[in-house]
Amino acid sequence: MTDNVLHNSRFLKACRGEPVDATPIWLMRQAGRYMPEYQAVRGKSSFLELCKSPERSAQVTLDAQRILGVDAAILFADLLPILETVGLNLEYLEGEGPRLSPPVRTSADIHRLREEDPAQSMPFVYDAIRIIRRELPRDIPLIGFAGAPFTLAAYAIEGESSRNFIHTKTLMYNDPQGWHALLGMLARLVGKYLHAQIDAGVQAVQLFDSWVGTLSPEDYREYVLPHSYAVLQSVKGRVPVIHFGVGTSTLLPFMAAAGGDVLGLDWHTPIALTREKLKVRAVQGNLDPICLFADREVVRRKAMQVLDDAGETPGHIFNLGHGILPKTPVDNVKFLVDFVHESTRR
Ligand code: CP3
Repeated sequence: MTDNVLHNSRFLKACRGEPVDATPIWLMRQAGRYMPEYQAVRGKSSFLELCKSPERSAQVTLDAQRILGVDAAILFADLLPILETVGLNLEYLEGEGPRLSPPVRTSADIHRLREEDPAQSMPFVYDAIRIIRRELPRDIPLIGFAGAPFTLAAYAIEGESSRNFIHTKTLMYNDPQGWHALLGMLARLVGKYLHAQIDAGVQAVQLFDSWVGTLSPEDYREYVLPHSYAVLQSVKGRVPVIHFGVGTSTLLPFMAAAGGDVLGLDWHTPIALTREKLKVRAVQGNLDPICLFADREVVRRKAMQVLDDAGETPGHIFNLGHGILPKTPVDNVKFLVDFVHESTRR
């Protein structure tokens, strides 16, 4: 149950499109390798071991929120461990990124996958949520998250990150029945996973469709929208849901139709114009994360541009247009958080 203090937090008010005392800010991937405290907690353990250790992943979440002074914490976890529960092997190779094996390429591969209830199969996530909620300041909401069906399917099919998504699109075009069976199953899993996170104590969730920008609007509508819709319908009304993707300028009308209370925007997308066109109640975004590598004056100027674009209309959550990258200067990140608060205080 969300108590009054949390309900009236800046972040949750902005999610509902209500006026706030200052623009709330949090940053995708706010906990990560750019932060020495993260490196210390991770130590010599693997990333996956860290994700499966509730005490240490809780610590990473709490450190990032406290050090940066952001208005929301995000669960420290990853998009991909849910794919282990369907029977894929997951590894993170240092400097190369995630690997899933064997990749799902045929309808026989699809039918071999198991469908376990993530409420049972991922206890470490809910344990982390309970620890974080106990330790987090009372007025700071905790955000849970999951990968959207398309982005999870793309990882399962490619077996790794991809530029052209050749295997993914080939399966989608050649075997639409298998495709819809796979995405339907992933949508059921993700819906249950988000419900279980909400039951464990998160105040909002974000659906990451990180790679969906590789699709045309027509393909999004035909192959993805029904499945994202199913996920978003299933959690609708429980907590605010942020629906996010990258490279989505032309997909946003369809993503908005799929659902979510807050639309996450990348830095290619103008805020005011998009809000006017799509009539969404709240948006999140959208500073280019690379700006944080530049001089402080640039950070200030670029952040101001985002705030000017967002204007006075309630319902803006400041964020980057995508996650913070390794080697981002921590001082610039702190500067950004303070700048957004100070320059928007009403
Ligand atoms: O936002 C946060 O601080 C919470 C934690 C979080 C992580 N991953 C931690 C992480 C979240 C929300 C994610 C989501 C995620 N994971 C996405 C969607 C976000 C986006 O950027 O669109 C994706 C695509 C993944 C899959 C994934 N996990 C990739 C591509 C990588 C990077 C591989 C690499 O070596 O660069 C990961 C690993 C990962 N997830 C790290 C962290 C902190 C780095 C782990 C390490 O090496 O210590």
